[in-house]
Amino acid sequence: MSLRDDVAACFTDRYGEPPRFLVRAPGRVNLIGEHTDYNDGFVLPMAIDRDTWIALRPRDDGAVRLYSMLHEEEAALALADLRHGEGWPEYPAGVAWALQEAGNALAGWEGVTGCDVPLGAGLSSSAAFELAVARSFAAVSDLAWDAPAIARLCQRAENRWVGVNCGIMDQMISAVGRAGRAVLIDCRSLECEAVPLPPGTAVVVLDTATRRGLVDSAYNERRAQCEEAARAFGVPALRDVSPAAFTERSAALAPTTRRRARHIVFENERTLEAAAAMRAGDAQRLGALMDASHASLRDDFEVSSRELDLMVDAAQRIEGCLGARMTGAGFGGCAVALVEADAAESFSRRVAADYAAAAGRELSIHICRAAGGAELVRPEPARSRP
Ligand code: GLA
Repeated sequence: MSLRDDVAACFTDRYGEPPRFLVRAPGRVNLIGEHTDYNDGFVLPMAIDRDTWIALRPRDDGAVRLYSMLHEEEAALALADLRHGEGWPEYPAGVAWALQEAGNALAGWEGVTGCDVPLGAGLSSSAAFELAVARSFAAVSDLAWDAPAIARLCQRAENRWVGVNCGIMDQMISAVGRAGRAVLIDCRSLECEAVPLPPGTAVVVLDTATRRGLVDSAYNERRAQCEEAARAFGVPALRDVSPAAFTERSAALAPTTRRRARHIVFENERTLEAAAAMRAGDAQRLGALMDASHASLRDDFEVSSRELDLMVDAAQRIEGCLGARMTGAGFGGCAVALVEADAAESFSRRVAADYAAAAGRELSIHICRAAGGAELVRPEPARSRP
């Protein structure tokens, strides 16, 4: 049975009837454009075929009750009196808070959620959960589904309610993902362009099986360093610094700030170039840009880790691998490789063996398809609005 069927069956068991609504929202992998989102820059992620699902029906008492199959417990919220709690229920509470704060009148609901996005791996299980919750509220409350606006509110939930200072990439791609495409997102205007994966390639996600507690503080430190660099250049964000301006004027910056800024300025360029390579179907060029992105994240932005470097190094040496890099915030989690589709299986076997030998750890591998963004799966949207 698929996860979708499991979630629907669990709902039917608990409530004695099939769910009125079924929604899903995907996790993501970022092909290139790392740490650029909070610099108002460009990112090029794709939504992946791993999702959070919610099966639900409306309630008329302003309450939300959500059973998590993963945590085997139920969370209860009162929409008129949202309070902070702990753990996973903070996400639905935060999304309810952000939607209401923006002036949306929310109805209550009850349901079941399940998720096959690996947790804490840097594949945006939190954004998938937030978007699935938002999609559920939209279904029962009859809200218009404006994907970028909802993504912004979910980011706000994470920043202000959950307390994680993330950028907009993860929520955006979970909202606007397109089957078979990556999406070039301008994180300032939220303009999006779907770009096809080069023909004959596959995207392989390589989970180093390492998780670092350090991520939050280091992430905030990088943000502060980028803001400091933008101030030094006299611009609102590093997005506004061209490579030429950087080369001309960066000598005045302190060495660390300069390296952080260099990563962002050139990563933005690489991301735009990667989108152009994808439009042209140039897999070699895309792969080379991914390799360059990793080197910059490792040496200038310093957010890689020993295991990520070993993994990327192992991947890049294998025939059929066009490019590889760490993906997401860094310090652990996943790398992403672009490989020739015919070689995907043999690549996966080799990289698993080589990484195990080098790092002394097992990895998990996901060969991912690019998937669509958050959606109401049942009933279909057209039929839900008479
Ligand atoms: C995390 C954040 C994103 C982005 C990436 C790094 O995934 O949630 O907003 O900043 O790190 O690119």
